[in-house]
Order: sequence, then structure tokens, then C-alpha cells
Amino acid sequence: MPLRINADRLHARLEAMARVGATPAGGVGRTTLSDEDRAGRDLLRSWLEAAGLAVRVDDFGNMTARRPGREDGPPVQLGSHLDSVPRGGRFDGALGVLAALEVVETLNDTNVTTRLPLEVINFTDEEGARFEPAMLGSGAAIGHFPKDYVYARTDARGLRFADELRRIGYQGREADRPRPGAAYLELHIEQGPALEAAGLPVGVVAGIVGITWLEVTVVGQSDHAGPTPMGLRHDALVAAARVIDRIDRLVRQVDERAVATVGRLRIEPDVINIIPGRAVFSVDLRHPDLATLDALVTHLEAIVGSETVASGLEATIDRFWTSEPTPFSPAVVDAVAAAADELELPTMRLWSGAGHDAKYMAEVCPTAMIFVRSQGGVSHCEQEYSTPEDVEAGANVLLGAALRLAGTTEGVDG
Ligand code: GLV
Ligand code: MN
Ligand code: MN
Repeated sequence: MPLRINADRLHARLEAMARVGATPAGGVGRTTLSDEDRAGRDLLRSWLEAAGLAVRVDDFGNMTARRPGREDGPPVQLGSHLDSVPRGGRFDGALGVLAALEVVETLNDTNVTTRLPLEVINFTDEEGARFEPAMLGSGAAIGHFPKDYVYARTDARGLRFADELRRIGYQGREADRPRPGAAYLELHIEQGPALEAAGLPVGVVAGIVGITWLEVTVVGQSDHAGPTPMGLRHDALVAAARVIDRIDRLVRQVDERAVATVGRLRIEPDVINIIPGRAVFSVDLRHPDLATLDALVTHLEAIVGSETVASGLEATIDRFWTSEPTPFSPAVVDAVAAAADELELPTMRLWSGAGHDAKYMAEVCPTAMIFVRSQGGVSHCEQEYSTPEDVEAGANVLLGAALRLAGTTEGVDG
């Protein structure tokens, strides 16, 4: 009989964490390095310490707690993130961190000592919603982002990452960064419709699509909304709107795996009777194939050029972040599949359309993920939901996969 997690305890903790930054419609607002993020971290720390684990905090605010194994080798790491998008859901990120804690609690309850140590990790700023780009904490921990770059990131109000990290009291030491382990596992909600369509509670994640983030700036000429004839305008917003519509239509013609989103748009001066002189907007492009992603960027450049230069406007495009498509480790993917089989859970293999800390961890150690079915396939909104039964199934797969990878010398000896 495979070991099973304590579902009541996991649900109670998901509920308690969902009260930190709770929004009226049932979601959470726990943006990176906010007061709510601090409160969520404090709560997690209290639970980890109560479970007998000391918490290390690194110079990016990543939190790591180790449960020793029989051997002092590289750990099997279980992680995700507690930060959320504004008005986000209660499962995105928190599920993976709290399920990792639940794995440790279950092993404590049953007196199981794994061969390798286990680590629970809460990464800083997975979302990239306040401090762009995404997965800043895991990327920095593995050396992908230089410290100066991370510390100088600013939010929409101009507040610096480094100052906010210090303000909430979570600036730790470089020596306490999570080091590459024997394997990394992340449990997460799917955030898409595939598992629901297939009628499956849990999925085995074989990789993460490529993501590229760009910022487009269109500069026209502010002018009076009344006396300026249509033919004499250099309206930055109208040009931006045309670009956005054309990207949307282009991506629909590529294949069903290509997606494009313009999630933020700022116009200046943003006044009712002034023609916008400047429009700045983001473009998020995703595809599992890097060549296709690069081709989409080339098309975007051509579209921006044709909608601006010819009408006397100027435009710049800053492709400031690319997360390349990442296939996971076949051995770790197989360990996840075997854990699901042992629980007699039917599963499917799928790729993630969302970014996860597992992307950067996969660059330094064998990695895979487990997905839990998302009701309606929705997330990054307050309606995000997964049933207690599906959450329990996913956490049990995490436990089983962690035990396979970390090894037990004597099996369940409690
Ligand atoms: C993070 O959730 C992302 O995929 O952008
Ligand atoms: Mn997430
Ligand atoms: Mn997210």
C-alpha cells in the first residue's frame, strides 16, 4: 500500500493560506514582496518550524527547509511559490509549497526517513506580475539572472526589488541559496483545459513551453482631440490597437499551441481630449518550439513597422526575456508516472503552457512536474478552483514520486 498524505491537514492549510491576501470573490492578492507576501511567508515559516525544519532564506528571499535523510547527499527538492498575480487564485503556487510541506509532515507522522534529504522550497516572484520577468527567484538562485539585475527590477510605482525585499524582512544570505539537488519536483494546478477534457484528476508534465516577453513602445504626437483632422493625426494608441489586433489574428493561424497576450497597456497622457502621443504595451508569446517563437517575433517586428513607420510614428521593441522550451528529465517524469500508477490513478502526459520555477530548476537538476485538474481550465483569476479530491490525488503522487527519488532504505518503518 503506498503511503498517503493527510488530506484534511493539507486542505486546512490551503484554506488558511488563502485567507492571507484574500479577495472578495474568493481569490488572493499576494503579489511579490508585498505585506501579504510577507504574511504568507511568515505563516509558512511557522508551519515548517513546527514540523521540525529550520528555514534558510537566501539573498533573493527564496525560502528552503531541509528534512535530513540517512545520507547527507544532494536533496530531492519539492517547491513552488506563494506569490500570486493581483486578484489571482488560491491554488497557483501555494498548492505546490503546501503539498511539499504535507509530504514532510506525512513522513514525520509515519517515521519514514528517506535515503536522501528532502527540501521544501518557496521561490520568490514566480509570477513576474509585480517585478518582471517571471521566475525571478528560481532563475536568480541558479545563476541565470545576475543579482544586480534582480535587485534593480522595479514595479509599476518605481519601487525596487531590493528595497521591498529588505522592507519585508526577507533578504537572506547568498550561502543559503537552494543548491542543485538530486531531483526537483513541483506540484501545480494545470491552469488549462486538457485534464478536464480528458476526465483525469492528475497529469504527468513532460515539459514547459517557450515563453518570450516583449515591450513595444509607440511614439506619435499628442494633440487636441477636436481641431485635429483625422488625416493629420499621429495617434500612438490607434497604431498600437492595430498591431494588437494583427498579432492576435496572426497567432491564431500558426497552430493551436501558439498563444499571444497583450496584458498591459499604458498610454500617455491618458486624458479624454488629448490624442495619445505614446503607447507602451507588453506582448507575451508562447510556443513549444523555439524556432516558431522566434518566427513570431520576426512577424511582430514587421507588423509594428508597417503600422507605425508608414504613418509617421516611431516604435521600439524590447525583447527583454525568453524562457526557452524545456523538456523534463525522462527519469523524473517516469518516477511521477510510476507513483500515479501505484495509486491506480489514470493519467496523461502533457506540456505546461504556463511558466514554472521547474523551468530554471531543470537547468541544474533532473526535474518534472505533476498537474492537478483545473475546473473550467481557468487560472490567474479569482475563479481558479480544483476539487479537494483532485488536490489530494496530486499530493499523493508528489509523495510517491518524492519517495521513489529520495529512496527509503527500510520502507515504511513507523
Ligand atoms: C506564470 O504564471 C506565467 O506563466 O506567466
Ligand atoms: Mn504558478
Ligand atoms: Mn501563475
